[in-house]
Amino acid sequence: MYEKIFQGNINVHEGDYMDIKARILELKKEKNAVILAHYYVPDEVQEIADYIGDSFYLSKIATGVEADVIVFCGVSFMGESAKILNPNKLVIMPDATADCAMAHMATVDRIKKVREEYEDVAVVCYINSIAELKVHSDVCVTSANAVKIVQALPNKNIYFIPDVNLAKHVSDKVPDKHFIFNEGFCPIHHKLTKEEVLRAKELHPDAEFLVHPECQSDVLVYADYVGSTSGIIDYATASDCKEFVIGTEEGVLYELRKKNPNKNFYVVSDHMICQDMKKITLDKIQKSLENMENQVEVNEKVREGANHSLNRMLELGK
Ligand code: 13P
Ligand code: SF4
Repeated sequence: MYEKIFQGNINVHEGDYMDIKARILELKKEKNAVILAHYYVPDEVQEIADYIGDSFYLSKIATGVEADVIVFCGVSFMGESAKILNPNKLVIMPDATADCAMAHMATVDRIKKVREEYEDVAVVCYINSIAELKVHSDVCVTSANAVKIVQALPNKNIYFIPDVNLAKHVSDKVPDKHFIFNEGFCPIHHKLTKEEVLRAKELHPDAEFLVHPECQSDVLVYADYVGSTSGIIDYATASDCKEFVIGTEEGVLYELRKKNPNKNFYVVSDHMICQDMKKITLDKIQKSLENMENQVEVNEKVREGANHSLNRMLELGK
């Protein structure tokens, strides 16, 4: 049983686990801190978080928290976005090396070239990106609001960075716009094959298949639902179906099972694990709060530029 609980802390014993939890609660009070966690972090971290959600929800929450300190349990673009939206708060990352590979898969040079080539273009930046890319973009999006925001933009041409798969999904939903694609991708979602999906569907013929739009289009065609992690959780919770094959990172199972104890969930493949998200552990949360370590810093000029794209997303995404 405890192996399941200690996903990220497999060497921690039950007594130590209770101690760490109690110590984190104490530190939260002492430092006036709040813990935000993405659905992909280990179960025991989600369990102690004040707010758990997808990227869009967490960025909205980050603008409204009253605490002095935000502990961001996720990868670096998430902590960076929280700091950009809250320059006067301390944002700390339990593990400063937890990063999203896709966040680096676009370049400012190419953005400049596309802007030269197309007159009426909006650079749409998936929030899974480094701050420098957000500075040179017109608006940010997340997987939860990308379609809505692109639809609302006045521009004919859309240069969508960094994710090619989300871009293709949005372009299918907004056919009246012309898309310029970039070659970025999420190494975990992009790796999922059509053959793996068909095998999972064969094993669970009565299940609905719910998938994240970071997967490739030949996988998305088999979906009963395509959406963000929150979208997947909401869909499964509202559905009359009792079984689901899940096409995203396995961390979402914690919330899916909590909300739906009488339904069965199967991850589509055993490689749907984001190792960077799994770097966030209880002992690192404790240590970072104790020493106020790994504070996120963003240079003011970069912050102002990136803040514009993030705020435009929050406005258009309302
Ligand atoms: P969400 O937008 O669903 O939070 O997804 C973020 C992410 O990193 C997916 O891999
Ligand atoms: Fe980035 Fe993929 Fe991990 Fe999401 S699952 S944080 S896109 S590497």
